[in-house]
Amino acid sequence: MRIGVLTSGGDCPGLNAVIRSVVHRGVVDHGDEIIGFEDGWRGLLEGVHRPLTLDSVSGILAQGGTILGSSRVQPSHLRDGVERAKQHCADLGIDAVIPIGGEGTLKAAKLMSDAGLPVVGVPKTIDNDIACTDVTFGFDTAVSVATEALDRLKTTAESHQRVMVVEVMGRHTGWIALNAGMAAGAHAIIVPERPFHIDKLTEVVRERFDRQKKFAIVVCAEGAKPEPGTMPWEEGTKDMYGHERFTGIATQLSRELEHRLGKEARPVILGHTQRGGTPTAYDRVLATRFGWHAVEAAHKGAFGHITALQGTEIKLVPLGEAVAELKTVPAERYREAETVI
Ligand code: F6P
Repeated sequence: MRIGVLTSGGDCPGLNAVIRSVVHRGVVDHGDEIIGFEDGWRGLLEGVHRPLTLDSVSGILAQGGTILGSSRVQPSHLRDGVERAKQHCADLGIDAVIPIGGEGTLKAAKLMSDAGLPVVGVPKTIDNDIACTDVTFGFDTAVSVATEALDRLKTTAESHQRVMVVEVMGRHTGWIALNAGMAAGAHAIIVPERPFHIDKLTEVVRERFDRQKKFAIVVCAEGAKPEPGTMPWEEGTKDMYGHERFTGIATQLSRELEHRLGKEARPVILGHTQRGGTPTAYDRVLATRFGWHAVEAAHKGAFGHITALQGTEIKLVPLGEAVAELKTVPAERYREAETVI
């Protein structure tokens, strides 16, 4: 088979492990030829690609980022995008395309699959918000990075008797905030699924200082918002792809808490540090398994599906099902985190 692979959307640790696995499984076990499209869908739309051999993926398992590059360009951004992508695949004799990406990429994969392209998707995102898979690779790494940062912030917060308001990634869902907050023993966790009330948050922090504790750590997902009308709030803007660009929940919240509590508060935005660097062992294994199963699915002709972790097994889920809804933090999980606050 001739298999094309691409990485699209925001990068995440583990992408190289998938690419390596696709090449190993394809070349070694099936005698496939693997082609890498550069910079996500852009490479497929513009016909920019290169052969991927065992040599070209040697040593990349533990590397962060993606050797193929990524972009947020999607076929639907061009009027003739879908047709162009199909034409390039036909010209190159591509038998299967493996797009590795998050929500936006998988929606584009569905569009391409509906248009007749033989697609097997691989889900990735540090946000862990793809509903059909228990976990996405990249998430474990992001949580580890955020947890280490929270641990480190505790000592400096204590020295200065400050409130640290730490912003982690999570546009629509609070998985990173929830897990890192729980792992580090944060004193309040704020997620997009539950608008927060500033009075309640202020009381949680005040009560802690009343107990002679010297610092407080508040973790918030970047997409979280206050209950409408409860505090001054500056909404975000949209970027060129229609994604929300937030104006800094950590900055807005720390300003408000400092004012209300009369205690020094500092915003800390972890941002893209959560996406950079080497993947954890867990993410390397999951990414490798996804790559392996994507090639398997292509050989079985199971197009129009994505790989998904369900329990301990990798299953194939129809693309339509995979993009139908996001996996949000359930109330029960949030209650568990609140209990330990
Ligand atoms: O979807 C993954 C993600 O890391 C989000 O958590 C974050 O909001 C977004 O990407 C950031 O995107 P960009 O790299 O375009 O700034």
